[in-house]
Amino acid sequence: MSNQKAQILLDIHRTIAPISPLLFGGFTEHMGRCIYEGVYDPASPHADERGLRKDVIAALREQAYTVIRYPGGNFLSGYNWLDGVGPKDQRPHRRDLAWQSLETNQFGTNEFVEFCAAIDAAPMLGVNMGTGDIQSAANLVDYCNTPGGTYWSDLRIKHGYAKPHNVRYWCVGNEMDGPWQIGHLDAVAYGNKALEAAKMMKWLDPTIETVLCGSSGDSMPTYPDWDRIVLEIAWEHMNYHSMHYYINNKAGDTASYLASAVRFEHFVDTMEGTLRYVKAKRRSTHDVYLSWDEWQVWHSIGSALGGQWTEAPHLAEDIYTLEDALVVAQWLNVFLRKSHVLKVACVAQIVNVISWLHTRRDALLKQPSFYVFKLVSNMARGDALDVLVKAPLVDTQKHGEVPALDVSASFDAETQQGALFVVNRSQTEAISTDIIWQSEAPRQVTGAYQVAGADVKAVNTYEHPDTVVSRQIAAGQMDGNTLSLRLPPLSFTVISTR
Ligand code: AHR
Repeated sequence: MSNQKAQILLDIHRTIAPISPLLFGGFTEHMGRCIYEGVYDPASPHADERGLRKDVIAALREQAYTVIRYPGGNFLSGYNWLDGVGPKDQRPHRRDLAWQSLETNQFGTNEFVEFCAAIDAAPMLGVNMGTGDIQSAANLVDYCNTPGGTYWSDLRIKHGYAKPHNVRYWCVGNEMDGPWQIGHLDAVAYGNKALEAAKMMKWLDPTIETVLCGSSGDSMPTYPDWDRIVLEIAWEHMNYHSMHYYINNKAGDTASYLASAVRFEHFVDTMEGTLRYVKAKRRSTHDVYLSWDEWQVWHSIGSALGGQWTEAPHLAEDIYTLEDALVVAQWLNVFLRKSHVLKVACVAQIVNVISWLHTRRDALLKQPSFYVFKLVSNMARGDALDVLVKAPLVDTQKHGEVPALDVSASFDAETQQGALFVVNRSQTEAISTDIIWQSEAPRQVTGAYQVAGADVKAVNTYEHPDTVVSRQIAAGQMDGNTLSLRLPPLSFTVISTR
């Protein structure tokens, strides 16, 4: 058996940027069973008096979500927000063309804001740039954020919400580069429409922050020209530029799949380059940051996703394995490593649809990546550190040789708490790793956790929910400025220090 060695070098002064709390966000869409039977399920024994699932809320709180995006997704581009407000018995049933489902509108903007309050996350609302016009986008801002005394804010008050919702984050459309999008536009048409919508929205409430639709992945034929063009048009009225990205291991090439961080970083780098180019071209002093507001492993992507005009059909209820969890861990590592430009991220989606959380009417299942996200969202605080990694290489078909360890770290100067997040992507080799603090070593290790296993395809089921979970491990003692650990193959390890 080989004895592979690595070093991780940390310096609490070698920082990248403050970690934006909004990197730990989620996405909810009127798709499949995300809203109905996920978030909202009055028929469940776990529902509260508002119909919200208490067990789901508890799990989401465990995950410490900071922001939740809503109501879509592709659904957004055919949605009239007025259908989802006011007395429930008067809300229309409609066909949702995005997912060929029946939408009952029993859950809408106000219920969503209440749900966000229940999990202590900020709401991020989308305005429809497909079938919707800029007036309807502005009206929704007025409805949500004006305290009172206007037609739209008084309507909100009449609907039972006396206080304004003060929604700060607004997505100006969804995936408008995609021909699958209802009301899809070309880049110039979308850029102009988004600019005019954002102008009206910000005139109504200058404190809001807007998100422009970027490319729906790096395989889009219009990528990255789409990004350059829409940014050139709408730059001054936007705060964030969105990125969407889904991945899977349909090819059955686990070594390459476990090196997915390479792809994620490349995508961010190109987007960052585009932001810099546009800022320079416009001679602007304004900054636009990245909002990775849809990301996830999606195995069933591309398969038929029609709901046959039923309510809450089972769509994209993927089953996730240990290898998927290790990819999620790398995604989060990339968020930290790119925290100078990446300020918002929302996993798609938070329950049932493409999600690590799955409900039955009376039960809840946490899939392996649930535990990975929970560890990072609860522990990454303060600044992201620029970590130096010296590790053996793993050969991959798609990305050539990559380091066996994928690492990120954080340090909070105020609380003196540090955290280190390490994926060992080797499928066969444990790696003896020295973690070396090059300046001001912590006094102690305060926690050590691992999500790991021998079977890359291991899953959790309702019958065996604890096959892949996060477990406490013995980290041992610091020796001066060094902590030595043996990282098993196929593992994600988190070390917290103080
Ligand atoms: O999250 C599922 C779908 O994926 C969203 O509706 C859309 O934005 C993306 O294509």
